[in-house]
Amino acid sequence: MDKPSIAEMISVEKLSFSYGDLQVLENISFDLYYGEFVGVIGPNGSGKTTLLKCLCRLLKPFGAVYIDGEEISRIDFNKLSRKISYTSSELDSSIDGLTVFELVSSGRTPYMKGIWWESGEDERIIFDSIRIIGLEDKVNRRIGELSSGEKQRAKIARLLSQTPEIFLVDEPTVHLDLKHQIEIMNILKSLKLKKKIVVAVFHDLNLASLYADRIIVLKKGQISAIGRPADVLNEDILRDVYGVDVKILHTGLYGTPIIVPMPSI
Ligand SMILES: Nc1ncnc2c1ncn2[C@@H]1O[C@H](COP(=O)(O)OP(=O)(O)O)[C@@H](O)[C@H]1O
Ligand SMILES: [Mg+2]
Repeated sequence: MDKPSIAEMISVEKLSFSYGDLQVLENISFDLYYGEFVGVIGPNGSGKTTLLKCLCRLLKPFGAVYIDGEEISRIDFNKLSRKISYTSSELDSSIDGLTVFELVSSGRTPYMKGIWWESGEDERIIFDSIRIIGLEDKVNRRIGELSSGEKQRAKIARLLSQTPEIFLVDEPTVHLDLKHQIEIMNILKSLKLKKKIVVAVFHDLNLASLYADRIIVLKKGQISAIGRPADVLNEDILRDVYGVDVKILHTGLYGTPIIVPMPSI
């Protein structure tokens, strides 16, 4: 049954997932609203990547995920790909033979009519995405010949060219230097202005604090906390979830907490 009352959001209800005998997500429920930037944090192995894959049907969980009131298992594949896209953090070698143009073009596949995908509009979106991410001078280079950071940026360009409503980005800043971290984060944040939803996994808690409207904190496959950075990034929660002592600074610079790890020696 589709949910009639939900408008314009993702609703996750009692989601659980196991790889064989290994239960990785347990009883996860939350709603996401259009125009929201949501960070997902938690230790290695806490289930962040698995959660993103369940949200876009790369994995089939127990429980339900609704997009705009429609349960995702009932949504046609191309329609789902126009609604939601996912970028992994892995250095996936299967794309190494593609040029930057070919990889970014593949984001338009869900819009293909028959065998023709490359309308003037598609081409404009592809080149815009490459330009926004700053890879214009690498358009014809093969992905395998790029640095890790450039490869990550090419993957983000592909994500943009897919023009979905919901962007799921696993560790968007992995392999990026500080300048490109900030550039990518600003690009993702700007999607809010178009009322998109961005869900991004972070290891850098300070980037999460700076950019996310809300943060989901995962611990052993369960939601340990969910809320505004100022409410969830506190010493008690971070000690409980990561097992480390941190100091939280409130500088007032951007009004978000700054997390400083405390050395034990
Ligand atoms: N394909 C898989 N098969 C079996 N176990 C997996 C697989 N992918 C991840 N896991 C396990 O599931 C748990 C959660 O993994 P993951 O969602 O990747 O965590 P995170 O992204 O938070 O580091 C880990 O214990 C991991 O070893
Ligand atoms: Mg992961």
